[in-house]
Formats: sequence, structure tokens, C-alpha cells
Amino acid sequence: MAPAIDLNAPFIDHTEALERAEQGVSALECTRRDRWYPLYHIASAGGWINDPNGLSYFQGRWHVFFQLHPFGTQWGPMHWGHVSSADLVTWRREPVALAPSIEAESAGVFSGSAVVDANDTLNLLYTGHRWHNGRDDSAGNREVQCLATSRDGVRFEKHGVVIDNPEDLIDFRDPKVWRQDGRWYLVLGQRSRENRGEIVLFSSNDLVNWRREGILYRHPDPNVYMLECPDFFPLTAPDGKTRWVLCFSAMGAKAQGYMNRNRNNAGYVVGTWEPGRTFEPEGAFHLWDWGQNFYAPQSMAAPDGRRLMIGWMSPAGAAPMQDDGWCGQLTLPREVSLAADGALITTPARELEALREDTVEVGPVTLGANEDLTVIEDAEATEIELTIDLAASTAERAGLKVHATEDGGYVYVAYDDQTGRVVLDRGAVRLGERGYRAAPREGHDSNLDTLKLRIYIDRGSIEVYVDGGRAAMSAYSFPTPGPRAVNLCAEGGSLAVSSLRRHRLRSIGLA
Ligand code: FRU
Repeated sequence: MAPAIDLNAPFIDHTEALERAEQGVSALECTRRDRWYPLYHIASAGGWINDPNGLSYFQGRWHVFFQLHPFGTQWGPMHWGHVSSADLVTWRREPVALAPSIEAESAGVFSGSAVVDANDTLNLLYTGHRWHNGRDDSAGNREVQCLATSRDGVRFEKHGVVIDNPEDLIDFRDPKVWRQDGRWYLVLGQRSRENRGEIVLFSSNDLVNWRREGILYRHPDPNVYMLECPDFFPLTAPDGKTRWVLCFSAMGAKAQGYMNRNRNNAGYVVGTWEPGRTFEPEGAFHLWDWGQNFYAPQSMAAPDGRRLMIGWMSPAGAAPMQDDGWCGQLTLPREVSLAADGALITTPARELEALREDTVEVGPVTLGANEDLTVIEDAEATEIELTIDLAASTAERAGLKVHATEDGGYVYVAYDDQTGRVVLDRGAVRLGERGYRAAPREGHDSNLDTLKLRIYIDRGSIEVYVDGGRAAMSAYSFPTPGPRAVNLCAEGGSLAVSSLRRHRLRSIGLA
């Protein structure tokens, strides 16, 4: 039953709500501690963030918005924070873009996406989130999709609800919009009445009037009750074959072996589609990222045709940064491409090489069994490129201990010869969540005897790219005070490193 209220009625002046949000962020920023605050990852100056939203290129700048709770370091009433960049490397803070101000959004402006139209206007399609009874979550959500537009990319005018929730589903959110064959299309995630995770397709001529085309995808696993933050885009392989990539962040899947170890898990299914047809999946579900802290990625088409993606490094359990006035950061922007063998590749956007300000060739290195070598005494913002000759190594496990502190804490990024996987192991951390993840080295058309790792170390996080982007792993790491060394180690055998290069990285301008 639709509520007997006007969903478009304001309950606060939007400008006033935005000012309050700015004050909230500033108050937290004043008390912020920077021991883990990122130097080259996007985060809010203060407060909690989650999903990246509204990724777009508009009037010569890249725009990244994100879910923001400006009044605390826990998830709370959602706003849209905003940063922009001319080069995808150095970022500047923009004013908070959206605050809850109309009835439809009384409990938050939830995730959504952005498109630029023919009138050079930036359009945000996002979810208005409201408690069903208008007061608390006891009666569930009532979610609808809303539109806001901007001529300058900074100040947004709200146009209210454009897609209602006629079936009154409790989860119905996260519109991702794109243009194709002269029409707008949009996918969103819903929880069906039978508690199944589904993705619904809509189309429109004007971004205001939307037609429901039908269910694009229903998740085959009956445990999966909701697909958050869907995304849908084509990629063309080097042989000219085009495939559609359907992405979602699935809630409810049970962990199985190495898969789905996080509370909710973001991944994709590749298949074929064209407007007016159903999506035909061609393969299995793959994770975007095998690390402990990755969720709700969103992609955008860059003007040069590349597909760029950014995810949220979602904290799990204890998140010590919540004591520091901030919580949450986004991953590096990643380029997504389709390899000739059909595998999806995610690599750091090539622009990020401009972050390197000091490069040292550590050179080929051989370690005897159980030897260690300190590669960096104190690494703050660092990128490491490591190539291991596995055919010439006998170690059962070998790699880099990063964020290694004097009290014995570290995070291990290693190759495990017994499983043939790359592990990101936080078993020895002194603060925060423990546990490990293990990424496969599968789907290769290349030589498995050579392992390439690209490791990004920031003050409070680690991102690992395996074999040129065949797998990625993202995790928080909260080292204790003092120097943070990087040590190369070989366990139970020798290690032959054919090349090891380290780069000091500069700040992206937000820290
Ligand atoms: C995913 C999500 C989205 C929602 C947003 C709210 O992390 O739950 O489905 O729009 O976060 O902050």
C-alpha cells in the first residue's frame, strides 16, 4: 500500500541540510587522527563512507561521489560526498552533493549513478530511502528512485521520485543508468516477495519517465536474497567479440571453499545481451576482488572507451579507524578489460603511474631457505612490483611481509605453493580483523611459472594485483606505531625473485 504522504514534499531546505552535513564533516575532521588515513585513496575528510556513487566524466573533470554519513564514523543517514579530478590522479574536495531533504529520502539518499545528457547536464539517478512507517526500521524500507541534475557538476537540483516501488518491495535500490541505441537504460537490484535477489531493467527517453522492461537476472542461489549495486556494461575482447558483464553485490551467499568469504560479496557474470532480449549468462560467478574488504563497485565508461571501476573497501567487524574520526576508503580506480581467453582483467588505471615519485630497482634477489631481506625500512605510500621465478624457487610459501612493525605485527602477501594461490594473510596483525584470503591463478593463457605481483601499500590498506590483473585483493591493515617495514621472506625453501622495484607514491591531494 502506497503511503498517504507526498514523497516529493521537502521536510528541510536542501541547502540547509547540506550546510549541516559540511559542519558535521568539519567537526570530525578537526579531531581526525591520520595514522591510517590514506595518502592516495579517496576518503572523506571526516565521517563514514561506503559505496562509490555517480562515477562520471563531466566538463573536463572526473567525478566520484560516495555514500557519506557526515555526523559519525558509523553507517547512518546517508548523504552523497563528492571529489573531482582533472587527471584521475590528484583530487579535490567538492561540497557535499546530496543530503536527505524530501520525504522519499527521509532516512537517506542511497546509492546511484550519473550520466551526462545532450544538454551538458549531469544527471544523478539514486535511491530515496525511507522507513516504511516514516520513523524507524521496524516496518522495513520503502525505497524509490529519484533524479537530481546539475549544470556545473557541483550544485544539484532535485526533481523527486522518477521510479516508484509499485510492488512495495522492501529492498529496491541502486539504479545504474547508461545510454544505448538512442535510449536510456537502468538496472536496479530488488528483493522479490519470495526473497530472491533480482536485477530489474528499465528504459526511458528522457530520464524522467521510465518503463519497466522486466527482470534481467534472478540469482540462481536461493540463499541470495538481494543484489545490491548492480552494474551492466559491454566489453570487447582483442578478437572483437563483445560480451556483457553483469555485476552485483550479493547478499546471503554462503561461503564455499575460497569463495564468498566476506559477509556480502561483489562479483560478476559474463554473458550476451541486446535491448529487447534476455541476458544469457555464459559462465560462472566470479569475484571482482578476493580480499577481505571490497564491496559495491561501480564502473563508468571513460571518454577514450576504457571501462573504469572503483570499489568500496568495506570494513568487517572491528574497524580501528572509527576511533580516528573517519571510516572507509575507496579502492584505486581500476581498468576492466576482457582478455582473449574470456577472463576479466582489473589493473590500476594507467594514470596512477604518475603517483610514482621515487623508484628504486632492488634488482634480482635470491633468498635461501628461511631467509629474510628488508626491502623498505619504513614504507608509507608505496607501490611494489615483484616478479617471482617459481620454477627456480623451492619455498613452500614466500612473499612480502608488509606493515611489519617492531612488535611483530605484519600482513603477509605471499605465494603458497601448496595451494597454488596468492594469499593475503592478516593472521599476525595486532589490531583489527584477522583471517586470510587466497586468490587463484586460473584462467591463464600465460606462463604460471612466473608470478607477478603489484602491491599498493597505503597507511591503512593494501591492494594486490596478481598476474597483470587476473586477480585483485584489497584489505585494510592497521599497523601499530613506529616504522612499517617491508620484508621479503622465503619459508621452507628458496626464493628466486627475477625483479623487484619499489616506488614511493605521492599524495592524491586529499590527506
Ligand atoms: C551497499 C548499500 C546499497 C545502499 C547503500 C546505503 O553497500 O547497502 O545497497 O544503497 O549501501 O548506504
